[in-house]
Amino acid sequence: MKPKTREDFAKFLDIWGCKYGVEVGVHKGDHAQTLLDNIELKKLYLVDCWSREVWPRNRNVNKIYDVVCMRFKDDERVSIKKTWSTLAAEEYDNDCCDFVYLDACHTFECVMSDILSWLRCVRKGGIICGHDFCNKGKNYRVEEAVRTFFGAERIHVIPVAGEDPTWWVIK
Ligand SMILES: C[S@@+](CC[C@H](N)C(=O)[O-])C[C@H]1O[C@@H](n2cnc3c(N)ncnc32)[C@H](O)[C@@H]1O
Repeated sequence: MKPKTREDFAKFLDIWGCKYGVEVGVHKGDHAQTLLDNIELKKLYLVDCWSREVWPRNRNVNKIYDVVCMRFKDDERVSIKKTWSTLAAEEYDNDCCDFVYLDACHTFECVMSDILSWLRCVRKGGIICGHDFCNKGKNYRVEEAVRTFFGAERIHVIPVAGEDPTWWVIK
C-alpha cells in the first residue's frame, strides 16, 4: 500500500502494527482524530504547549486546549500533555512508542531538537515521522532539518495532494 493522504498514512501506521503513539503539535486535534480513527491504538499521547508564546496574537489559545480536552474526554486511549515538546519527551522511556508524529515548531532548530529528543522514545523498527516536509522562508525549514538529521536515503516522503508532504523514517 502506497499512502497518498494523511489518512492513508495513518492506515499504514496501523498495518505497521503501531499501538502506542505520540503526536507532537496537536492544535485543535484534527490530525489526532485521523490517527484515532484509522489505527487500532492502545494509547495516543497528545503533546502541545497551547501557549501564547507560540501564538502571540491568539487570545483563544487556552480555549483551543479546552476544546481538545472536551473533544477527547471520552476516549480512554488519549492522554493530553500541555507542555513543550522537548520537556515532554523527557518523561518517556527509551523505545516506548511505535511512532512519534512531529508537527510542532517548524524552524530548523526546533525540528532538529524535536527529532533528537523523540527518536530515543521510538522502538527499533518503529517510525518517526512528521508533517510539512518542505521549506517556506527562514522560519519554516522542516525539509532541511530532516534531511540534515537523517540523510536523504532514509527518508520516505508522501506527497499529499493539495497539502504539504508527510515524511517518515524507520528507526
Ligand atoms: C501545525 S499545528 C499542529 C496541527 C496538527 N498536527 C494537525 O494537523 O491537526 C502546530 C502546533 O504545535 C504547537 N507547538 C509549536 N511549538 C511547540 C513546542 N515547542 N512544543 C509543543 N507544542 C508546540 C502549537 O501550539 C500548535 O498547536
